[in-house]
Formats: sequence, structure tokens, C-alpha cells
Amino acid sequence: MRKITIITGASSGMGAEFARQIANDTESSEIWLFARNKEKLDSVKEEIDKKAGLPQIKCVPMNLSGKEGVALFKTFLATEKISGAFEIDLLVNNAGFGTYGEFATTPLEKELEMIDLNCTSLTGLCGAALPYLHKNSSIINVASLAAFLPLGNFAVYAATKAYVLSFSVALAAELKDKGIKVSALCPGSVSTDFANVASNGARKEVLHGKDPVAVVAHCLKKAKKGKRIILWAKKWKFTAFMSRFIGRYLGARYTYKYNKRPSEWS
Ligand SMILES: NC(=O)c1ccc[n+]([C@@H]2O[C@H](COP(=O)([O-])OP(=O)(O)OC[C@H]3O[C@@H](n4cnc5c(N)ncnc54)[C@H](OP(=O)(O)O)[C@@H]3O)[C@@H](O)[C@H]2O)c1
Repeated sequence: MRKITIITGASSGMGAEFARQIANDTESSEIWLFARNKEKLDSVKEEIDKKAGLPQIKCVPMNLSGKEGVALFKTFLATEKISGAFEIDLLVNNAGFGTYGEFATTPLEKELEMIDLNCTSLTGLCGAALPYLHKNSSIINVASLAAFLPLGNFAVYAATKAYVLSFSVALAAELKDKGIKVSALCPGSVSTDFANVASNGARKEVLHGKDPVAVVAHCLKKAKKGKRIILWAKKWKFTAFMSRFIGRYLGARYTYKYNKRPSEWS
């Protein structure tokens, strides 16, 4: 039986880092990397393939967004099943993006696309993967520190990540008796391409971003132990804790007023 790890959004940032670290420490025989950009996926694969004795890496260029993305993913799994039975050890639902700026000034299409990827696709992939999961399988859903409070200038993104966090914890409760672990990773700022995408090029780097290597290493260690909500930096833990005492409206109003996020949406 083939044993599979699936990582979405593996062409850059934290997803690529998940691929590198999991390849070095996994019982899976194959790792399947999903994202849209084939060249970037191939270069992550090449990097991993240079080391001997690691699992087989398969790149799957695919737009996972929305119901269409979920349908493509399901078809992919069904086709793989025909060429040989497999079970999924680990699903890392990492693909996602944000948009910086006031809701009124960011393109509505982009905001809806974000919901399609961050929520619909993540939910659909969990559902599609379920029949292939087994006792001791895990799901890691990448949420965000933004999940803990409504945020001005980041309204839809924070809402999508609140959804991911809520869904993941409930799924963890439902799958516990089957021996399947579900974790939500809730990082603050991490140095990836995130800001560049979210600002449409207006901010190239994530401000005060932490090293993705450390964030992913911590996540994998905690997910193995079945930690349901994973935070890393002390500052992130403090923020998540304090969010219980800050009113939702106050949090949103404060960030709207004082946390402007540059963007070049037109
Ligand atoms: N960086 C941060 O500060 C931060 C903080 C908290 C949470 N997060 C979350 O961390 C996750 C990873 O983001 P990142 O920071 O590593 O940013 P990133 O470097 O921009 O990576 C995003 C990944 O998602 C993939 N992706 C985007 N749209 C896709 C689609 N329609 N179908 C398939 N794959 C798609 C991208 O690949 P392609 O473009 O090749 O498709 C890329 O591999 C996201 O869920 C993000 O919300 C990031």
C-alpha cells in the first residue's frame, strides 16, 4: 500500500518548507505537491531529489480554488487509486492568500476568490481526503493569528482564517475517535511571498516576518503530538490569549484606524 503526504501551496513559502522538512522525516513513500506554478513546484522537487533515500516527490500543478478545484482534486485521487491503492498519512492544507486594504477598495472578485481558496477548497480537500485517511493520519490546516480577531484592512482574510480555525477544531473533535489528528497552525507574520501577493506588489516583504523554517519545524513537532491549535512565537501566543479580552469591534476598529496595509489594487 502506498503511503502518501499531500501538501498544498507547496510552490513557495511555508508550503515549500513543509515539503523540505516532511521529506526528511516521514514514513510516507510519496509526497504529492500541489500548487498552480509548475516551474516552482519542479524546483522544490529538484531540491529534495538531490538527497538520496527520501520519498518520491510528485508535482501536481493544479488550481485548487473553489468547488472546481475540489472536483479536480477528487478526480486526481480517484485516478491515482486506479494506478495503485494508497492511504493518506498527512494532508497539509496550506494554499491560501490574503488581500491588504479596505474592503470597499479591494476588488470584490479577489475577495471571493480568497473565500473560494481559503475556505471552500480547504474544506473540500478535507472531505475528499477523508476516505483515504486511517488511524494515526493527520491533517494540518494553515489558519493564521488573524483568526482570533476581526481585522480592519484585512476583513475578509481574517474572517476566512477564523473559519479555518473553527472548522479545524470541530473536525478534530469529530475525528478523534477514529484516531485522526487535526491541527490548525496559526502563525503571525512569516517571511514568504504573502505580503507581495496580498498587496499586489505594493509591499514586497512581510513586515517583521519570522523564519518559515522555525515555524514549520515547530508546527510539525506539535502536530505529531496532536496539538489542535499551534502558535509559535511568544508574541503570537500573547496576542491570541489577549484577543479573548479585546472586544471584536474594538479590535476591528483599532486595526482599521492604525494598521494601514499598503496595496495597489485598482
Ligand atoms: N506569511 C504569513 O505571514 C502568513 C501568516 C499567517 C498565515 N499564513 C498562511 O500561510 C499559508 C501559506 O502562505 P505563505 O505565507 O507561504 O505565502 P506564499 O509564499 O504566497 O504561498 C502561498 C501558496 O499557495 C499557493 N496557491 C495560491 N493560490 C492557489 C490556488 N488557487 N491553487 C493552488 N495553490 C495556490 C501558491 O502557489 P501558486 O501561486 O503556484 O499556485 C503558494 O504555493 C496561507 O494559507 C497563508 O494564508 C501566512
